[in-house]
Amino acid sequence: MLRARSSAPEIMDDAAQDFAAFSAALRDLERINRMSLAYRPTLHWLDALARRTGARRMSVLDVGAGGGDMLARVAAWGARRGVAVELAALDRSPHAAAHARARHPGLPVRWIMADLFDLPAEERFDAAICALFTHHLDDETLVRFLRWMGARARLGWFVSDLHRHPLPWATVWAGVRLLRMDPMVVHDSTVSIARGFSRADWEGLIARADVPARLRWAFPFRWTVAGEGGA
Ligand SMILES: C[S@@+](CC[C@H](N)C(=O)[O-])C[C@H]1O[C@@H](n2cnc3c(N)ncnc32)[C@H](O)[C@@H]1O
Repeated sequence: MLRARSSAPEIMDDAAQDFAAFSAALRDLERINRMSLAYRPTLHWLDALARRTGARRMSVLDVGAGGGDMLARVAAWGARRGVAVELAALDRSPHAAAHARARHPGLPVRWIMADLFDLPAEERFDAAICALFTHHLDDETLVRFLRWMGARARLGWFVSDLHRHPLPWATVWAGVRLLRMDPMVVHDSTVSIARGFSRADWEGLIARADVPARLRWAFPFRWTVAGEGGA
């Protein structure tokens, strides 16, 4: 069943969703992110990037930023680490920014409501990150996206997404039901894992994109891909 990436649709990708439904899903997605230690790999990578480059200021773009919870953690990381961060969030859903502004009032984030491939070419950032985003793309679009990340990021880029495997699939299937999560999350969570990645998938995608990138597994069930920026 999980041998190849699924192309089953996610409810979240249906543009007809209203704010209440999208917002409820983002709220539970943030719960899952917290419980699944989802912020850790991205913050470790940012830390290593700051150490390697000696950057004291950093513009950071989060692609498919959803509820903005990752950028809230990046802001806290910057404050702890003494790195002045300039935050930007890109999401095509009009509901993402509205949810994030209400959830994280006062967080200084520039929200860009657009499909990522419509972002003007002059928009570039020191670091580009994304989490739980790449599984929304089919393989061909994903190859294009990996090159896009390299072109948009001056210093480096980082992808974090789900490992397609029966163990996380079963854990998530049971977890979202036990915790009585929002119906969109109940549906999309296991679909997301089925749309996720094996090591071989990522190796093939990175080779097809022909970008310098390092693939790593992150506990409990993610793959991360770190790439170099175009400077
Ligand atoms: C599963 S959510 C992930 C949210 C957040 N990054 C997280 O880790 O919780 C995926 C987000 O990507 C956005 N998205 C999907 N395709 C997109 C595209 N082509 N351009 C911009 N945003 C997109 C959706 O609107 C949604 O908010």
